[in-house]
Amino acid sequence: MAQSGNPTTARLSGLVIGVGAVLIIGFFVLALSTFAGLPPLKSLLTPHAVLSAPEFAAAVEVAVQSADPARGERLYSQYACSACHLPESMGTAPMIKGMGERAAGRRPNYSAAAYLYESIVDPNAFVVPDYPAGVMIQNFKETMPERDAYDLVAWMLKQ
Ligand code: HEC
Repeated sequence: MAQSGNPTTARLSGLVIGVGAVLIIGFFVLALSTFAGLPPLKSLLTPHAVLSAPEFAAAVEVAVQSADPARGERLYSQYACSACHLPESMGTAPMIKGMGERAAGRRPNYSAAAYLYESIVDPNAFVVPDYPAGVMIQNFKETMPERDAYDLVAWMLKQ
């Protein structure tokens, strides 16, 4: 009985409860940001995803230097990108005209080439505003040879 009135014990248990509460709240914040994918918390917790170029950027930059834009244009028809991406009008998908210029400003710290490459191999990494996710073909990463992706990027950069 004497113990419960002891001020030191009271302070200590206050401290334990305080630390416990912080840990529990911290756990829920982490769990929420991980599983519910809350964007602001997620970007705070993984700053490298926002503050630096994606890891494939340098390789894409080099590959696109020696890529073949004329072949890219033919691939655009062969892969039927043209079914959705029209030359000069925004329809089912963003138009081809101005693609390179828009690509440069789409994601922070992404070069235009890195962004275009990512749009082909991982289309949901960034979904263009006002367009639905999941319409752009999702499995080019498995079905398209790397060289084709680079040639397509080289061509789109010039549009
Ligand atoms: C079935 C329709 C469809 C096909 C086929 C398609 N796309 Fe897309 N694509 C979309 C849609 C819709 C978006 C916008 C939504 C998004 O970001 O996923 C998009 C977005 C893009 C973007 C980003 C454009 C921007 O303005 O930021 C690129 C680059 C792109 N596609 C390239 C291609 C290439 C290259 C092919 C062919 C190899 C292709 N797409 C085939 C529907 C399609």
